[in-house]
Amino acid sequence: MQFEVTVDPPKGRNPRLPNWAGAIAHPAVEFGPTPLPVLSGAIPASLRGSLYRNGPGLLERQGQRVAHWFDGDGGILAVHFKDTGATGLYRYVQTQGWQAENQADRFLYAGYGQQASGPMWKRWGTHTKNTANTSVLVLPDRLLALWEGGFPHALDLETLATQGLDDLGSLQEGMTFSAHPKIDPETGEIYNFGVRYGPQPSLQLYGCAPSGQIQHQAKIPLAHAPLIHDFGLAGPYLVFLVPPVHLQLLPVLLGLKGFSDALQWQPQFGTQVIVVERATLTEIARFEVEPWFQWHIGNSYVTESGALIVDLVRYQDFQTNQWLQEVVTGQPQTLAPGTLWRLHLDVKTRQLTHQHPLWHCDCDFPSVAPQEQGQPHQFLYFSTQSSPDAPTEEFFNAIGCLDNCTQAVTSVVFPEGCYPMEPVYVPDPVEPSRGWIATVVYDSQQHQSTVQVFRAHPLEPEAICVLALPEVIPFGFHGRWQAQ
Ligand SMILES: [Fe+2]
Repeated sequence: MQFEVTVDPPKGRNPRLPNWAGAIAHPAVEFGPTPLPVLSGAIPASLRGSLYRNGPGLLERQGQRVAHWFDGDGGILAVHFKDTGATGLYRYVQTQGWQAENQADRFLYAGYGQQASGPMWKRWGTHTKNTANTSVLVLPDRLLALWEGGFPHALDLETLATQGLDDLGSLQEGMTFSAHPKIDPETGEIYNFGVRYGPQPSLQLYGCAPSGQIQHQAKIPLAHAPLIHDFGLAGPYLVFLVPPVHLQLLPVLLGLKGFSDALQWQPQFGTQVIVVERATLTEIARFEVEPWFQWHIGNSYVTESGALIVDLVRYQDFQTNQWLQEVVTGQPQTLAPGTLWRLHLDVKTRQLTHQHPLWHCDCDFPSVAPQEQGQPHQFLYFSTQSSPDAPTEEFFNAIGCLDNCTQAVTSVVFPEGCYPMEPVYVPDPVEPSRGWIATVVYDSQQHQSTVQVFRAHPLEPEAICVLALPEVIPFGFHGRWQAQ
């Protein structure tokens, strides 16, 4: 099949901006189920199932850009791999806020960085929009679009039709369900948390059945109101690394500041390590270590000698939030590299006994094969720059793979002007010890997005399959694979 690429230079590229900015220059265009032409290679016979990806699809209305990349309305890409070929579709999550703003044709609500428009007395207590834009969780009968500031939204697994807010059986008003749930590969149990802000901030912990139904909950008090984006599942533990980023709640409630601007870096408090026994959801250790910030934990596990290992991408401070805010302008200027680190924690003595860097280039979006979640892993995958000297305004141009046995990193470096999103691991059902990495790549020269699949054990540099998507997919955050 011949695939014709429609190049639209005015829409895709602005010569004053970096090449990647074309991917977020305009709101994503929805498309219904569309057969995806194979541009090169072939879809492996056993690669059957669905790739789901979430991210901010709409960053602008009537020429007004959102205040922060995290404010964009969530759009979901689904790619269904079937015996008849691959089919893709893209739909916005039809949240209440997206529908109201669509009707008004302007932004109405406050968000992570966004403040509601209008005079302060009108903004006070303004409803915050649930953007449903961060990740997905695949349940047996529905897909959840996740956002850490509120409830998930349920969608149809095949059509992506929005079904509405989902309380997982027992979420109450004011509770949140974060965007990085962890699934026990042996039992299918799902663990997650939400931060509760207020006079007595706390961590709300959830243990869910494989159906998504919340079965256990617990509340752990916090000394401050932090920003916690991710956590680790490590054998019998859940581990939280609470960074010294503290929310000033009052200016947010009064409408004087957006949530993002009210987050303060307070390094004098250090990072708090909180270890929870997951069988009972009770806290068993809490101690303070040096300050850093992290968005993501790649994996965590307990060694035979009892050490709690955490692989994560660390930032020196919270300047990464400023960089992410500047993304919407197409010209981020703030220096905020993240580096891959390994921590050795001793739960009994409550100490960080050892730590060392694992990779020297700016990187993020670390993950492992789902069957190794919470257990010692062989390979850890991540998005990365191919050079430690990459310019501040550049997006990741490579995918890295760290071999846990040799500590060596192999990487796929994409051609100039091509930018991969987070690598998503796809297990091979025929050979469970093997799998693939699937990613969505924006080619700024062609102004086109593709789905690309690579062999993952170890990561091989040539894609075994490249599929053309009918529209540009804006850079997103997280995705998951669901086997057929
Ligand atoms: Fe994330």
